[in-house]
Amino acid sequence: MRRISATLLLCSTLALFACKKEHGSGMADPNAKGPIVIGEVGSMTGTEATFGTSSDRGIQLAISEINAAGGIKGRQIQIIALDDEGKPEEAATAATRLIASEHVIALLGEVASTRSLFMAPKAQDAKVPMISPSSTNEKVTLKGDYIFRACFIDPFQGYVMAKFATSNLKLKKVGILRDVRNDYSVGLARVFTDEFTKMGGEIVASESYSQGDVDFKAQLTNLKGAAPDAIFVPGYYTDVGLIARQARETGLTVPILGTDGWDSEKLYEIGGAALDGAYFSNHYSVDDPSPRIQEYVAKFKKAYGGQVPDSLSAQAYDAMGMLADAMKRAKDLTGPSIRDALAALKDFHGVTGDITMDANRNPVKPAVVLKIAPGGKYVFAAKIMPQGMADATTVPGAPVGDTGKTAPATGTTSGGSAQTAPDAATPPKK
Ligand code: PHE
Repeated sequence: MRRISATLLLCSTLALFACKKEHGSGMADPNAKGPIVIGEVGSMTGTEATFGTSSDRGIQLAISEINAAGGIKGRQIQIIALDDEGKPEEAATAATRLIASEHVIALLGEVASTRSLFMAPKAQDAKVPMISPSSTNEKVTLKGDYIFRACFIDPFQGYVMAKFATSNLKLKKVGILRDVRNDYSVGLARVFTDEFTKMGGEIVASESYSQGDVDFKAQLTNLKGAAPDAIFVPGYYTDVGLIARQARETGLTVPILGTDGWDSEKLYEIGGAALDGAYFSNHYSVDDPSPRIQEYVAKFKKAYGGQVPDSLSAQAYDAMGMLADAMKRAKDLTGPSIRDALAALKDFHGVTGDITMDANRNPVKPAVVLKIAPGGKYVFAAKIMPQGMADATTVPGAPVGDTGKTAPATGTTSGGSAQTAPDAATPPKK
C-alpha cells in the first residue's frame, strides 16, 4: 500500500500546480514518447478494501506481462493508482485528478457501481476511455460512449440467481434485504424480484439497510416473521458477513443467497459458519478446468505468495488486457481512437470468458453460482450461459440442465442455458 499512498501524495501535490490544465488525454499528443500512463481508481482501504487491492493485483500482473512482451506501440505501460477509500465523491475526485493532472490515456475502475457512476461523467466529459472491471449495474455504461466494462450486467446476474433459486433449489418464497445506498444492491433486488416472480416465486418480505450499518436485527426479525424459504442479500462482503451472523442469532436458519459483491477473502472471516451452505453468483470459479483460468490462477499464486485470485483480480486483469488490445489496434493513442477500438472489441480471449462488446459497451459472458462450504471454500454449483453462447469450457461432472429458459443477457429478453453440478442443491462435502 506504500506505493499507493505515495502516489496519492504525489498527485495531491501535483494537483496544486497542475489543476488549471483541464484537458485529459482525449487530447493527448499522439506522437508522445515515454511510458503510456493509465489511471486506476479503487477502494484500497475502507470496508471494501479487498475490492481495490485485488483489482490492483490483477492489473499489475497484466501490466508486467505486457511490458515484458515489449509494451504497446513500442512504449511501456505505467499505472497510477489512487485510493478512493470506498467513497463515491473521492472516486470522482480521483478520476478528475488523474485526467487533469496526470494526463492519463485511460481509466481503469471502479469496482462498486455507485463509485463508477460518480467517475463516469468525468471520463466522458474529458473523452478519456474508462473501463470498469467489475461494476455490473446497467446504468454505468449508459453514462456515455467512453464508458466500458469487462463484466456481465445485473439484468443477467439477477436472472441467474432467480433461476438458480427456482430451478436448482426449488424455492417458492424468498425475503430480500437490500442496501438502499448502493445502486448495485437496489438494482439487483429489483431484477431478482421481477425474475423470481415471473418464474412463479413469491417475494414474501422486502427489507432495507444502509451501507455501514452494524445492527440488522430488526430487519432480520421481520424477514423471519414472513417465513421465507431463503433470503436474498445483494450486498457487499462486510455487511453480508455481519448480516449472516445476525440472521443465525435471530433464529433465521434458511439459506442465504447473494451476488458477486460477496466475493472477498474477508467474507468468511466476518461471517464464519453462518455462511455455510450459502450461494452467490460470480464471474468465474477457480475450480473451472479451463486452461485459461488454470493458467491465470497459477500465475497469480506465483506472483502473490500463494494467494488464490478472487474474481475481482481476474476481471481487472481482463480489463487491462482489453485496454491493451484496443491500444494496439487503435490508429493512435488519443481518447477517441482508443474508444473506437474498444467499441470494436471482438472475441477477446479473457480469463473470465470471450469478450465481445455489445452496442451498450457491455460484454456478453456467462456467470457461475458458487456454494460456500464449511471452512469457507467456494464450491462450483452451476454455470449459466447467456443466449446463443456455447460453453467453451466445461466443469467436471456438470451435466447440462434447464436448457432453453430465458436469460436476459443484455437487458433484453433472450434465451439462456444452465449447467449444473450434480450436488448443487445438497450440502457441500468438505
Ligand atoms: N458488481 C459489483 C458492483 O457493481 C462489484 C463487485 C464485482 C464486487 C465483483 C465484488 C466482485 O457494485
